[in-house]
Amino acid sequence: MRDAYIVTSVRTPGCRRGKGALAQTRPEDLLVTALNAVIERTPGVEKKEVEDVLIGCAFPEAEQGLNIGRIAVQMAEFPDDTCGVTVNRFCASGLEAIALQAARIKAGWCEVAIGGGLESMSIVPMGGNMPRPHPAWAKKNPDVYISMGITAENVANRYKITRQMQDEFAFHSQMKAANAQKNGLFKEIVPTPAARFKEKNGQWGEETFIQDFDDGVRADTTIEGLGKLKPAFSAMGSVTAGNSSQTTDGAAATLIMSGEAVKKFGLKPIAKVVAYAVAGCKADEMGVGPAYAIPKVLKMAGLKVEDIGIFEVNEAFASQAIYSMQQLGLYDKRELWACDSDKRIININGGAIALGHPLGCTGAKLCAQLMTGMQVKGAKYGVESMCIGGGMGAAALFELCE
Ligand SMILES: CC(C)(COP(=O)(O)OP(=O)(O)OC[C@H]1O[C@@H](n2cnc3c(N)ncnc32)[C@H](O)[C@@H]1OP(=O)(O)O)[C@@H](O)C(=O)NCCC(=O)NCCS
Repeated sequence: MRDAYIVTSVRTPGCRRGKGALAQTRPEDLLVTALNAVIERTPGVEKKEVEDVLIGCAFPEAEQGLNIGRIAVQMAEFPDDTCGVTVNRFCASGLEAIALQAARIKAGWCEVAIGGGLESMSIVPMGGNMPRPHPAWAKKNPDVYISMGITAENVANRYKITRQMQDEFAFHSQMKAANAQKNGLFKEIVPTPAARFKEKNGQWGEETFIQDFDDGVRADTTIEGLGKLKPAFSAMGSVTAGNSSQTTDGAAATLIMSGEAVKKFGLKPIAKVVAYAVAGCKADEMGVGPAYAIPKVLKMAGLKVEDIGIFEVNEAFASQAIYSMQQLGLYDKRELWACDSDKRIININGGAIALGHPLGCTGAKLCAQLMTGMQVKGAKYGVESMCIGGGMGAAALFELCE
């Protein structure tokens, strides 16, 4: 099989649902920004070279429906030859898009492709505009449709992940993100045109501005402050707004090529896509997914946890991220994830608790963050993973190019 190379990987900032900078920007426009940027940041490659664009989206309906993959390609003025498609594996959708494009390139079916992700949680709510669970099935299997927050409570209760552990983990996520923001470490962010509707002299009009940072980071977070927050999903629970991922708007895109295409354009790729795995688990504790998906992808490549130089493990909730890290033998080694440790290799610049989790975009967003991190650290192998609503985990393994 051939190799598939990541050449460029970018993301818009992640901004808070409803209250954030991208809340009034159409999802198509966010995606167009990411698609344009991935081409602009790849010297010598024009839009006409891209055969296909695959976009992950967790609620592909309304403004982000109607095959947003193809619509965004047309809005971004790729030629008619460039195709577009949408894929949904909930929180892994963006990674699924990258993995599928890589697989097509490896198989020899394609030379140059984009995989990406999109979610405007402000404009299309989590759960969709009109959820219609199957009535008879839902009665017998309510777990399949329960709130993600309740699945996080289940993980915390079943595996004894205390409130204190969750708040401590959340604090570190915020501090890592605040430090990265202060020091300009999010090199993969594309300054993004955003829209805001404003009233002026009795007239409503749209103004645009440029947003270039993640606006959910709370640099003033303290463990004491986190400890005062009320449970968000269950009166007696431990999962709060402070130790859950934020609901967020964002888009991301990754340009992937065959070795032949890399040579033709004279490019220096960032990393190879080595392998991708998905693993199923119980729906009512979907957060444990990475504990199964990461060993599965490592086994495919004949590697061990110790071989991995950097991880991006999505922080859907602190409880599930901690449990997954425990299962991999990573949580007890505090130096591997703590904000005050130079040896940290897990979510080095913070995770979704601080930076947000724009569902279908997240897999592509984490890829962009991982590519930045692998280059900075010179990590030979990097792993990206996340849990998935309905009861799954996904994980991808990347190898840094010399
Ligand atoms: C938990 C959840 C319901 C909270 O929603 P929310 O109330 O809109 O959350 P916010 O981020 O606005 O925080 C609410 C309040 O908590 C407090 N808070 C949040 N983070 C805090 C922190 N780090 N320190 C101190 N206070 C904090 C603040 O008072 C904040 O209000 P403010 O924004 O006016 O300051 C929502 O984030 C959620 O559903 N997350 C999970 C999403 C999910 O399920 N994704 C899929 C996973 S599979």
